[in-house]
Amino acid sequence: MVSTVPTFTVSNATAKATATAHGMTVEQLAKDSSLATQASQNGFEAKVGQTLSTTGIDGKVTVAVGLGQQDKVEANTVRLAAAAMARSLKFHKEIATSLATDVSDSLDIKDAVRLDIKDAVCAVVEGAGMASYQFTSYTKAKPTNLKKVIIAGSGAAAKSGLSLGVTSVNAVCLARDLVNEPGGSLTPTEFVKRARSVARSAGLKITVWDGKKIEAEKMGGIMAVNQGSTHPARFVMINYVPTGKAKPKASIGLVGKGVTFDSGGLSIKSGQGMMSMKIDMSGAAAVLASMMIIAEQAPKVAVTAYMPLTDNMINGDAFRPGDVFTARNGKTVEVLNTDAEGRLILADALSLASEAKHDAIVDIATLTGSVTAALGPKISGVMTNDDDLFARINAASDNTGEKVWRLPLPEEYRKFLDSGVADLRNIGTVSQGGALTAGLFLSEFVSGAPWAHIDVGVGAMADSSEGYVTKGGTGVGVRLLADFVSSW
Ligand code: BES
Ligand code: MN
Ligand code: ZN
Repeated sequence: MVSTVPTFTVSNATAKATATAHGMTVEQLAKDSSLATQASQNGFEAKVGQTLSTTGIDGKVTVAVGLGQQDKVEANTVRLAAAAMARSLKFHKEIATSLATDVSDSLDIKDAVRLDIKDAVCAVVEGAGMASYQFTSYTKAKPTNLKKVIIAGSGAAAKSGLSLGVTSVNAVCLARDLVNEPGGSLTPTEFVKRARSVARSAGLKITVWDGKKIEAEKMGGIMAVNQGSTHPARFVMINYVPTGKAKPKASIGLVGKGVTFDSGGLSIKSGQGMMSMKIDMSGAAAVLASMMIIAEQAPKVAVTAYMPLTDNMINGDAFRPGDVFTARNGKTVEVLNTDAEGRLILADALSLASEAKHDAIVDIATLTGSVTAALGPKISGVMTNDDDLFARINAASDNTGEKVWRLPLPEEYRKFLDSGVADLRNIGTVSQGGALTAGLFLSEFVSGAPWAHIDVGVGAMADSSEGYVTKGGTGVGVRLLADFVSSW
């Protein structure tokens, strides 16, 4: 649990709150003549995430939070508004807000808003909670004084939105903590410790393979990448099985890249290029954290999480450009660039997941810089051989506000991966379209199930805080994967 995130309650009693925040659409502002002058003097137009603060003679603060145009209000608007609220009232210890009831179907903007109270409360908690996060393991500086947020509302639906929201925030914060932890301290064994604690508190079964077992299981890609490291690799699996006698509706495999630090190996990165490479386990963090939410939502589908964990280092025994290894599915790979390491550990994990006869396999990874060259830092690339699976991921993207865009797996590029000495090489002969050749590489290790690959690129880390994203690890993919599974 992260100390900078406030606690949330649903109640109509405002208790000790010294500030109150309410939502305001562009249309509502236009009607409000008493606010008009003050609003225009402060440049407040009720745009999404804008705030306008007034202090009464009793010292109590009231904040209007912009919701934008009423017919465009959706869950993500509420998340952004709640984030702006939390940021603007961060010096208050306890605040109250009507944001959830403002946008849920009871109020006068109801024709515009498709949110029910459960989703509205959940969105308020998510937005305010995620915006209040800071990585505090190595600093005493606290960005916020906010301890308690009282969300106006009542009833079972509001309570259930509250508990979903809190779990969602805790999961995103867990992933951010993992991503923000330096590569020197978040080794594979430390990741395993945290995974065990997540599994224990969520009541999920966890299996951990050590280096010997990884070798016995013929995971040649993980072994190749781990060869240059003093920290042994680990392979973690976590299972969620729905309770009850009915057979699960489906079985899903989630696979996350867990490179705890990527130096590039002998194909070494530049100093600049390495600076952020503690984030290279963001895929595994997203998969692990999403299992927390899945356990709470308890969908009627079975889920197995697969997390290959190693760093990519360069001691005297490091794998070399030109080396060939055999992956778990028997295919041989010529490694021409040791910095294209994520696909090598995913190859083994995807092969194993393919043996489990899942109805769908989804992997998530900080796989290429190339995907960010194409889509920028806030949109993840999705490559898949299955239109229905893409539709499900796209729906989860709409629900969570985590943006994705589909990229192709062009058959005519497969020849860029032809090797003279092995079944395939690990980088394309053509350097452009690197996200696509990476996706094509992975496709060689999947069989028998619809599969999608999510390349988050640089999106795992933010350079600055904005909306509900905070500087550093973003927790990208956590809510997306959980929603994808829970909506099945
Ligand atoms: N982890 C990196 C990709 C990456 C870079 C993610 C920057 C986020 C920010 C990955 O292992 C990598 O090094 N990819 C190379 C592949 C290339 C050698 C074919 C890349 O994208 O440059
Ligand atoms: Mn790399
Ligand atoms: Zn990497």
